[in-house]
Amino acid sequence: MKVLVATDKPFAKVAADGIKKIFDEAGYECVFLEKYTDQADFVKAAADVDAIIVRSDLATKEVIDNAKNLKIIVRAGAGYDNVDLAAATEKGVIVMNTPGQNSNAVAELAFGMMIYQIRNHFDGSSGTELLGKTIGIHAYGNVGKNVARIARGFGMKVYAFDPFVAKEVIENDGVEVVESVEELYKKSQFVSLHIPANDKTKKSIGTALLNLMPKNAVLVNTARKEVINEEELKQVLANRPDFCYVSDIEPGNKAELVEFEKRIFFTPKKMGAQTSEANTNAGLAAARQIIGFLNNNDTTFKVN
Ligand code: 3PG
Repeated sequence: MKVLVATDKPFAKVAADGIKKIFDEAGYECVFLEKYTDQADFVKAAADVDAIIVRSDLATKEVIDNAKNLKIIVRAGAGYDNVDLAAATEKGVIVMNTPGQNSNAVAELAFGMMIYQIRNHFDGSSGTELLGKTIGIHAYGNVGKNVARIARGFGMKVYAFDPFVAKEVIENDGVEVVESVEELYKKSQFVSLHIPANDKTKKSIGTALLNLMPKNAVLVNTARKEVINEEELKQVLANRPDFCYVSDIEPGNKAELVEFEKRIFFTPKKMGAQTSEANTNAGLAAARQIIGFLNNNDTTFKVN
């Protein structure tokens, strides 16, 4: 069996070595394609492999259709909107993710960005603190849960909205469940986004919700840029001098937002999951899931 690890944004060395070791021990061949600049390189590298591990790399129909031996793709991470599920299903290729494995890293970055923002980008001027402030967690999955834990440590009042998670589960974490998404935005000075990008959520965060946020609002996006209505976000930034936006994903209209200077911050590359711990957790889980499927037909974490 041959496995391709296609990671434009490479895993930490310790994680890549760990993945290689798992496949060596299982008698699999494992090749890496890192920091590639051309999608055609991915298509070519996948042509003769049985399995693929990706991060945010685009596992397109072209990649899938050209990979004649392909049986499984594992997204080493949570969101699998970068994998063409329809194309995979059509070809009988199993797709999995590795839920929870990188979620603490993403949650920690959310707080890194919040503090950077409310300390005025560390420019030496007097900022504000998280203690006693309100935070709303929009979707209570693995990252949301970690954000809640850390927020409580900072002494924040934590609210959450997630119609797919039982109220008791959220309340057990010392988090107050709100009844509507509007109420979440109304109550929270900070809102941390953890919704996936799909047909229902794309462009769903815009003026209607953002204008409900109280004074000195900070929207924190470690989810996906697609969930933001970027035109409306720009309007909110223009109309509300107290509104800030920090994001781990550069917006499509980044150049148009430059004028908002100190009220915006974007990481240069998606950095949320970029820690050695998260790389190791997600990368090794992906390798084990591939072997589990190919050797024992274990389909746990299948998403298609
Ligand atoms: C995820 O969905 O797991 C995160 O967005 C991390 O993405 P990355 O592996 O490309 O850093």
